[in-house]
Amino acid sequence: MGRYDLALIGFGGVNRALAELISQRGERLADELGFALRVVAITDLRAGSLVDTDGIDLAPLLAAEPGELSFADLPGGSAETRNENVIREVAADIVVEATFTNPGDGEPALSHVRWALEAGKHVCTTNKGPVAVAGRELKELAERHGVSFEFEGSVLSGTPVLRTARRMFGGLEITGVQGIMNGTSNYVLGRLEEGVELPEAIAQAQELGYAEADPTADIEGHDVQLKAVILANEVLGADLRREDVVCEGISQITPRDAQDALGKGLRWKLVGSATRQADGTVTARVAPVALPAHHPLAGISGPGNAVSFHTDLLGTVTVSGPGAGRTETAYALLSDIIAIHQRHHAHDDTTPVRRALKEAPRG
Ligand code: HSE
Repeated sequence: MGRYDLALIGFGGVNRALAELISQRGERLADELGFALRVVAITDLRAGSLVDTDGIDLAPLLAAEPGELSFADLPGGSAETRNENVIREVAADIVVEATFTNPGDGEPALSHVRWALEAGKHVCTTNKGPVAVAGRELKELAERHGVSFEFEGSVLSGTPVLRTARRMFGGLEITGVQGIMNGTSNYVLGRLEEGVELPEAIAQAQELGYAEADPTADIEGHDVQLKAVILANEVLGADLRREDVVCEGISQITPRDAQDALGKGLRWKLVGSATRQADGTVTARVAPVALPAHHPLAGISGPGNAVSFHTDLLGTVTVSGPGAGRTETAYALLSDIIAIHQRHHAHDDTTPVRRALKEAPRG
């Protein structure tokens, strides 16, 4: 049985939910996946840092109220965050990055990822910033150090969009991608169709926990803009930056517009898209689009998300599922860890199925 030692960078909702998954179903995961997970370091802007290379006891940390957690008085703990020191020095196999990111320069998450890869540690992150700002550089850095850089959660949380594109479409050509990739704006558009005014619809989205405290990035399309960059670069092999993606949000759409469209069999949706043009270049944009009822994205309601892949051999294939949420995003990290295992260690004969196959009598 193999084991991965994890350093959790950031202990807000997502990494806390990952710690809950490890603590609640660690044994079941080990049986199914053939490896155990152990947390050896945690850093957090508010709580400080905690290191125990024999494995941190997660139960008391998870029992504490999130806002009241402090590592300062625990053995191996400090009131200081010490991100660089922990990422570079602590003997962890995988650095799990889930901190705040500035969408403009990708920091501080971008530095966290660089430090970890330079130190020869695998990285998984849910942060859009480092992937959108420096995805190509980080993947090359990972290759040079013989480790993996995984980021499934940067688009549609744990709903497998990037991995579907990478693993399931061998031998065909993806010509374009279109998605509803922000739950808040999709929920708000649905409320506009019911005649609710924009400020009230946004307030409802905040009450339900979909919108950010400052919902500007949700409503003006900036959140989708980063996801469109990631899709263009990862799925269509482009090298776009945020400023290459024309972006228009939904703040100009009124309840009247939404209801008029419904009367004509159309639904306004905030669509992020990336398209390969005839000359081979890739363009991407974010804009409200009035979709006809038969469009695969037209039926995505409430805070739901979906991404459609346009392909030459299958036509359109659509993946739909949650685009946010603590546990849903933590699952993206778990799926990244599984991908790291499969790429680097699955040949180790450690899974029960592989062991059974190896031990089965032949002939
Ligand atoms: N606020 C975002 C949403 C969360 O509404 O989808 C995921 O980026």
